[in-house]
Amino acid sequence: MIEIRDRLCILETARTSYLIWADPAGNPVQLYYGRRLDLRGDALKALMPRTVNQNGTSLVADPSQPAVCLDDLCLELSGRGKGDQKEPFVELTLADGSRSSDFRFVRARKTEKQSPAGLPGAYGDEGSCSLALELADRNSDARLTVFYTVYEECDCITRFARLTNEGDTTIWIDRLMSAQLDLPLGQIRVSSFHGEWTREMNRYDTLLQAGKLVSESNTGFSSNRANPFVMYAGPAATETSGTVYATNLLYSGSHREVCEIGSHGKLRILTGINPAQLRWKLNPGESFDSPEAVLTRTDDGYEGISTNMHAFVRRHIVRGFWQFRERPVLINSWEAMYFNVTERRLLKLARAAKDIGIELFVLDDGWFGKRNSDTCSLGDWQDNTEKLPGGLRGLSEKIHAMGLQFGVWVEPEMVNEDSELYRQHPDWAVRIPGREQALGRNQMLLDLTRQEVRAYLVEAMTDVFTRGQVQYVKWDMNRHMSDLYSQALPPEQQGEFAHRYILGLYQVLTELTAAFPEVLFEGCASGGNRFDLGMLCYMPQIWASDCTDARQRGLIQNGYSYGYPQSVYTAHVSGSPNHQTLRKTLPETRFAVACAAVLGYEVNLCDAGQEDLQEMQAQIGLYKRWRKTLQFGRLYRLRSGPAAAYGGLSPEQLPELCNTDLVRWMIVDETGERGVGVVLQDRCIPNLTHHSFRARGLKPDAMYRFYNRCLKYDVRMMGDLINTASPIHIRQDSAVHRLAAHFYKLDGETEALTVSGALLNEAGVQLAQSYGGTGLAPDTALYPDDSARLYFMEETDGARE
Ligand code: DGJ
Repeated sequence: MIEIRDRLCILETARTSYLIWADPAGNPVQLYYGRRLDLRGDALKALMPRTVNQNGTSLVADPSQPAVCLDDLCLELSGRGKGDQKEPFVELTLADGSRSSDFRFVRARKTEKQSPAGLPGAYGDEGSCSLALELADRNSDARLTVFYTVYEECDCITRFARLTNEGDTTIWIDRLMSAQLDLPLGQIRVSSFHGEWTREMNRYDTLLQAGKLVSESNTGFSSNRANPFVMYAGPAATETSGTVYATNLLYSGSHREVCEIGSHGKLRILTGINPAQLRWKLNPGESFDSPEAVLTRTDDGYEGISTNMHAFVRRHIVRGFWQFRERPVLINSWEAMYFNVTERRLLKLARAAKDIGIELFVLDDGWFGKRNSDTCSLGDWQDNTEKLPGGLRGLSEKIHAMGLQFGVWVEPEMVNEDSELYRQHPDWAVRIPGREQALGRNQMLLDLTRQEVRAYLVEAMTDVFTRGQVQYVKWDMNRHMSDLYSQALPPEQQGEFAHRYILGLYQVLTELTAAFPEVLFEGCASGGNRFDLGMLCYMPQIWASDCTDARQRGLIQNGYSYGYPQSVYTAHVSGSPNHQTLRKTLPETRFAVACAAVLGYEVNLCDAGQEDLQEMQAQIGLYKRWRKTLQFGRLYRLRSGPAAAYGGLSPEQLPELCNTDLVRWMIVDETGERGVGVVLQDRCIPNLTHHSFRARGLKPDAMYRFYNRCLKYDVRMMGDLINTASPIHIRQDSAVHRLAAHFYKLDGETEALTVSGALLNEAGVQLAQSYGGTGLAPDTALYPDDSARLYFMEETDGARE
């Protein structure tokens, strides 16, 4: 709900109120953002700051209000140079070289729903509207309009700013952020998400009591260094209780999130384009839009933030044909054969995939140009007919004939020096002429600020997708920006390069996704190097990480789960030992982690033994039966904590000594009738053998059948303990040991109960005791390091089955 009462603007969601008020001098005061208020009576008067004297060494910006100091006000947006000493929202350089700005309220109005020009926007229900808060700079002819949209049911508010040059001289934009939150909070726990390749999205918590904390990306993209999603909690907040705010940005370029506590104890949060990569020339009559930011708050702890953000992303970010469609189970050729793809090998893999129930075959890197390694051919999207005699078309026809869907990998934004494209158009690559450029994975970026490069890209990709008759595209991007420069921009506009690149990318994506509306696009950037809401406006899912090691991947997915629903991150079952860590894990562990996302396989099925194939077939069958719940159900973290605490025991992580898990999730479908529990064990602690499973989100009054996957284990996992049961002595790892393993399997435990949702939610159920070095009874749970369990809960009429 948006309401304007003279100089007061009221934004209301189901559970929150956000109030903006223009003070008598026109300063845009952020009056309140918190739990929903009853605004009857003297509400406005009660919330207004009551200033009668100026503060100590603070400045007075306006003699008409001699007691008002900007650094002691909560402001909706703030400029530089008039006394607000915290990091500003907007910074301009005017024609005379001066840098002060002083934006004052002009008017507020309701308008049809607005999105920033050329940038992706959240979308609302039909007929939804925006609030436009208009301000004018007293120091220049710049006009600023801040647009707000309310997403009531998920307690989210979005905003972005439009700066217009209404004068007749150039204005330089040094920064224009997307959101500013000024909250009267003296201290805050900031949770930001950091990482690197194959270890994205670790949550780090910092208690801020004074000064400033910055989480930012400077790489040109949203990056695996710092995700744009950040949470801000009261120091007492927990996973399920307490006040938490969060922000995210619909943007894929460099971003900056700031949390600063000023000298008067007021907290400022900023999010927007990283000003370090922005200097924009705004000519008379022109406008510049910042990306859209999303804000949310809750009193239900981190879980409350996830609930709001998951609903927002599903309903207002992801769009189009695939928005609520179940995603197919795929096989990807990368870890199965890397660059060594040939039609013969691919078809063999496809046949094996089809046999175990896989639905989509994805041809990854190595199929085009002379691409036998990562040193060449990016840019040359022609078929390599030595590898694929019938080209993409021929391969795709054969894959389709098997009853599989077909998808292809591309990395369109890049060019190798060793490519026909670079030889023909060296100026299309991003580099500073006459200087040595930095390379990333031996490649350069194409200059997407240029129309002719974008046109080439749309044409080349249209050709690839049409030739391949594709149902799916993996859109990869494997380097950071460097040597920021466009040969098509004049020197004084080179500071616009990074943002113009992202605008160019969005234009290409707009055209291609419109031309191929039913193709499932999956974003990828060496895994999660561009995992953001901007990309998700075009692509319903993103490859979360190149790390397919189940243990590490569990942590990564747990990190994403704070701000993103599991339907937008994909995860694959891969081989063991794992290709990134050389860690060996059990098949159930690899499946359990991958099935709590959009499931795929990335392993050479042609080399897999019969037993492994049967196990994968069973996994896929199970996933399909639970796919709707697993992809679109509500995910609860039953255990959570900052990555910094892994290995140690953070108080939040280990309330009970017997909790030995790394991650624990519960995924419940919309109706509450079906739920899946996913448990990934950390290290096995000796003689801690009693475990329980406590659910969350089930209907308290309903009865549920609680059961597990009854598994069989390879007897070799017991090592030479086999001799405690074998009538003959068996030497570990001998041929006899292998033979015994072939004929004899260990039965895993069985869990089968019919209990109420209340019992499952409140008390939890005791699980079969795990192995603790004192013998193997018939129902002992084998639970070594990195084990996993899946528990299923289905509503039943109550009768024991
Ligand atoms: C990086 C991606 O993240 C991988 O999954 C794979 O597609 C390779 N690129 C291929 O070069």
